[in-house]
Amino acid sequence: MTQPQQPQASQLPRRVKVVEVGPRDGLQNEKQLVPADVKIALVDQLSAAGFANVETTSFVSPKWVPQMADGAEVMAGIQRRPGTIYSVLTPNMRGFEGAVAAKADEVVIFGAASEAFSQRNINCSIEESIERFAPVARAAKDAGLRLRGSISCALGCPYQGEVPIASVVDVVKRMAALGCDEIDIADTIGVGTPTRTREVMEACARAFAIERLSGHFHDTYGQATANIYAALLSGISIFHSSVAGLGGCPYAKGATGNVATEDVLYLLHGLGIETGIDLEAVVRTGDFISKSIGRTNASRVGRAMLAKMQDAATAAA
Ligand code: HMG
Ligand code: MG
Repeated sequence: MTQPQQPQASQLPRRVKVVEVGPRDGLQNEKQLVPADVKIALVDQLSAAGFANVETTSFVSPKWVPQMADGAEVMAGIQRRPGTIYSVLTPNMRGFEGAVAAKADEVVIFGAASEAFSQRNINCSIEESIERFAPVARAAKDAGLRLRGSISCALGCPYQGEVPIASVVDVVKRMAALGCDEIDIADTIGVGTPTRTREVMEACARAFAIERLSGHFHDTYGQATANIYAALLSGISIFHSSVAGLGGCPYAKGATGNVATEDVLYLLHGLGIETGIDLEAVVRTGDFISKSIGRTNASRVGRAMLAKMQDAATAAA
């Protein structure tokens, strides 16, 4: 009997792009309004830590997501680090106009592989969402902006349950046809497993260039770092994460935050994969934002490293 081929460590990418989404995906779910100056300090600390891409805010309806109503103020207040891409979410032309006025580098159109989630999140069907994204995509191309497409519920839906891989691939093809530079495969509610992750990623990679596909994992079931490892073995080299594991999704009850950036960096650096990001600086940022919003730091690596850093500081004093 032939044994299944075991993935080799040499198959892992040498370098990975980690997109920090805490200021947007993380904070959007906070009930208490976070002051703009805290958001600005957060983005600046992340830029300084070396992220090449920070998802900074959203230009969405403030009635739907009040926490992101200060997007223009946040974009105006941050210090732009040369080489860092500052991304914003734009569900429609109104959002796109806000993004252009705010000098965003990348706009993100966000759809879903599940009809029910599409309705709850952006109040339209998948088909209608693609129609709504088309002018945004054209305008982004005309303005020379990067265009990213995000696909929610690629590994499961809070309303529909299982999501067929064919539905995910169908939306990947539609996003590709709109001219997306990058497409995110998102496990919105963190239900994915490594095996399913590989199946979904590999099916999507047959429809869109694998080096421009990214993995966006939430950690509700504690599988996110395992899923990232699985996705790495499938050849994915872009991942999203949130400092201190901030977040949740306002339209996915019970979903926890994105996988914590500190945990992802520890995993990647431990595998010998370069990210260009200073893990200790991210740990300090995780402590800053957790204390600023009065939340427990959800990163295990963050908590462990902070304890060590505090011990070292006490010993040196
Ligand atoms: P709607 O109610 O169908 O749209 O919402 P509408 O055109 O009827 O507009 C309703 C009101 O919002 C109007 O104001 C518009 O002017 C205003 P009113 O006349 O009632 O005073 N409006 C806007 N205001 C500011 N900026 C805009 C904008 N557009 C309309 N861009 C809409 C449709 C898409 C606007 C709404 O559903 C919405 O904003 N949804 C956003 C939902 C959201 O941000 N969800 C979280 C992000 S997605 C996510 O987290 C998943 C992700 O992380 C991946 C994953 O993990 O799955 C990306
Ligand atoms: Mg998300």
